[in-house]
Amino acid sequence: MKKLLHIIATPRGDESRTLKVSKVFLEQFKSTHPDWTVDKLDLTQENLPSLTVKRVDGKYALLGGKDLSGEMKDAWAEIIKHIERFMSADAYLISIPMWNFSIPYTLKQYIDIIFQPKYLFRYTAAGVEGLVTNRKMVVITSRGGDYSSAMKSADFQEPYLRFAFGFVGLKDITFINAQPMDMGQDLQAQKIAAAQDLAKAIAQAI
Ligand SMILES: Cc1cc2nc3c(=O)[nH]c(=O)nc-3n(C[C@H](O)[C@H](O)[C@H](O)COP(=O)(O)O)c2cc1C
Repeated sequence: MKKLLHIIATPRGDESRTLKVSKVFLEQFKSTHPDWTVDKLDLTQENLPSLTVKRVDGKYALLGGKDLSGEMKDAWAEIIKHIERFMSADAYLISIPMWNFSIPYTLKQYIDIIFQPKYLFRYTAAGVEGLVTNRKMVVITSRGGDYSSAMKSADFQEPYLRFAFGFVGLKDITFINAQPMDMGQDLQAQKIAAAQDLAKAIAQAI
């Protein structure tokens, strides 16, 4: 059975605008893809491992071409669990609000945990090789302001995620940005509805 990994980084549950759009995406996705399972990973509820010196040493060991052993390997048990869960997915849905022009810190911590040499990428004579291949990603965001025109250069969220996940091999990334959310109730309702329509169409086509 194929698996969609749904990564959430808003703590707002039912109040979340991002999740209101994501809900429509998931409903359509499940009906179009009845043979897929959805694995929900709510980063705001996870006790993500922090990058202690032992864990960081592990990264440098791998970068130096060594294998993990002893205490370093033990310290990496949680990291490996997250890497395996991420790599076992066939497609990804990320649901995030914009926080301070970029991504919420829980998603950044998750990226720092799973983006590891040998597992998600490797260096070869020809340069970096991403190992997360042949998979699609959909990112649903909501933003208080509107970053689609005059404020575009202040959007460090979409370019960052495109570059970071592109680095590990994910090139097929579709963004659904609900914006602006905090400039009036009517506009918010209108933009959520538009993003939900788009989410439905993308979930059908993917
Ligand atoms: C900590 C924090 C930082 C935020 N930073 C921004 C920002 O930089 N730009 C912006 O347009 N909105 C910002 N917002 C507003 C949210 O992006 C917006 O309200 C979004 O719709 C919230 O999504 P959610 O309901 O799914 O949590 C911020 C909100 C919070 C709580």
